[in-house]
Amino acid sequence: MQKFYLTTPIYYPSGKFHIGTAYTEVLADTIKKYKKARGYEVYLLTGTDEHGQKIQKVAEDRNKTPQEHVDEMAEEAKKLWKLMEIDYDDFIRTTESRHKKVVEEIFDRLMEQGDIYKSEYEGWYCMPCETYFTETQLVDGKCPDCGREVTKMKEESYFFNMKKYANRLIKFYEENPNFILPESRKNELFNNFLKPGLEDLCVSRTSFDWGIKVRKDPKHVIYVWLDALTNYITALGYLSDDDSLMKKYWPADLHIVGKDIIRFHGIYWPIFLMALDLPLPKQIYAHGFITMKDGKMSKSKGNVIYPEPLIERYGLDSFKYFLLREMPYGQDGSFSPESFVERFNYDLCNDLGNLLNRTIGMINKYFDGEISGYSNPETSVNDNINLAELNSKIEKYSDAIIHEVENFFDTYHISNAISQTWELVSRTNKYVDETAPWILAKEGKTEALKSVMYHLIENLRRIAILITPYMKHTSEKILTQLAIPGDLRTWDSLSDYRRLENLKVTEKPEVLFARLDATTEIENIKEMMK
Ligand code: MSP
Repeated sequence: MQKFYLTTPIYYPSGKFHIGTAYTEVLADTIKKYKKARGYEVYLLTGTDEHGQKIQKVAEDRNKTPQEHVDEMAEEAKKLWKLMEIDYDDFIRTTESRHKKVVEEIFDRLMEQGDIYKSEYEGWYCMPCETYFTETQLVDGKCPDCGREVTKMKEESYFFNMKKYANRLIKFYEENPNFILPESRKNELFNNFLKPGLEDLCVSRTSFDWGIKVRKDPKHVIYVWLDALTNYITALGYLSDDDSLMKKYWPADLHIVGKDIIRFHGIYWPIFLMALDLPLPKQIYAHGFITMKDGKMSKSKGNVIYPEPLIERYGLDSFKYFLLREMPYGQDGSFSPESFVERFNYDLCNDLGNLLNRTIGMINKYFDGEISGYSNPETSVNDNINLAELNSKIEKYSDAIIHEVENFFDTYHISNAISQTWELVSRTNKYVDETAPWILAKEGKTEALKSVMYHLIENLRRIAILITPYMKHTSEKILTQLAIPGDLRTWDSLSDYRRLENLKVTEKPEVLFARLDATTEIENIKEMMK
């Protein structure tokens, strides 16, 4: 079986996770579930990035020790991932000894081989981002990443010799044009950071102590990014007694990150790996940000929305559907109560929900719920449409959609994969209007009617399978109500169109998504944001 090692960033446990953080996790989980459905052996790693000055400060503000604080927060993260049914294989915490031991050793090694050296650092430091910037990197004298105030700081530090590896990395980018996705991000990294020449990177701090100490010089703690990035290999047992996972899964097939942290993943991480003589990850995909009408989510603006209340009120499937659909490939997407309710009512309730309900209703009404199998009679239907021709058009269209959805999933264009699936939903609804089954029933064209019902079931079966990676519950409800047998619920069975036999659909169709009263629910969501 082909392996697929997939990672999410490890999250800062500084506060409650909002839907932005949840998006990264849903995206990774959806890719995992898709890959699994395609027969890959997938290993999904997630976790928390628990060291650094900011975490220390948040803990102090809460009158907790940093350890107490991160213990609580890691539990919160696990609770949220459970609620969101995230199927991760391991959860790494950077305060665990399996991680700390290896980071200490990596630091020693890099020092011994001369990649890390001691010097003095002076620069502009952004506390929330835990990053130093040079004068020229600042934007209007503020942090180029978050726009906040920076402070001039000077300290004795260890440095990593980035310059030594820069040319190798440039060559690697040139030889592996799909290393960073999307291409626009790659160009940005390549032209703005790599090409102009890399500065050596400061990899230790003496200004705080919540971190992994340098063994030979314990007044220094290891810079949070060197600590954090190595999670992708410490979790697999790199340099530990049991490194079987490392042997099996490294290099990673895909690191998923937000656009704000692509520089660390696309430049520093590959260089650390080169220094450790390890192969580089195959791909890194940077997604965009979820923004609100008034810009970035922030507590002070009162525009933060958390996953829990949305999931509790509207269900997990609609939550995932919304996030994935609204975030175009590599770009920002936005959240608003209005767009959430609109997607729910139009895409889920009207388009998909009604299609299922209509179909089951008609099969019960015209055939007592029973459909014997595939047929495609040469009959004319409503407005002299040749049914056999229309059906073969529908079959081909549906085949083409599957092909496109797979292509989009394979290239991580998840939003496009979803909109293609909804094209099939719309086309199938249109097919009902075109064939007008109620007229066929009135005219006694039983064979034609049966064939139309078969095509409806078959399209719905395909739609249900295509949505499984992100809407498992809805998919199961559709397949169960249509009484589709287990062997025709798999991804492999998507290509079959004519194999369904002796179906007996449910007598009482269950509503998939109950229509929301828009005004009430928009108000409700606004309340959740306060
Ligand atoms: N700890 C680092 C990552 C270290 S990985 C070795 C970190 N943590 S974070 O908690 O700040 O962010 C984690 C992820 O959440 C990032 O991929 C970030 O892009 C993502 N998001 C945070 N806010 C977001 C939105 N509003 N929208 C989409 N994703 C966002 O960075």
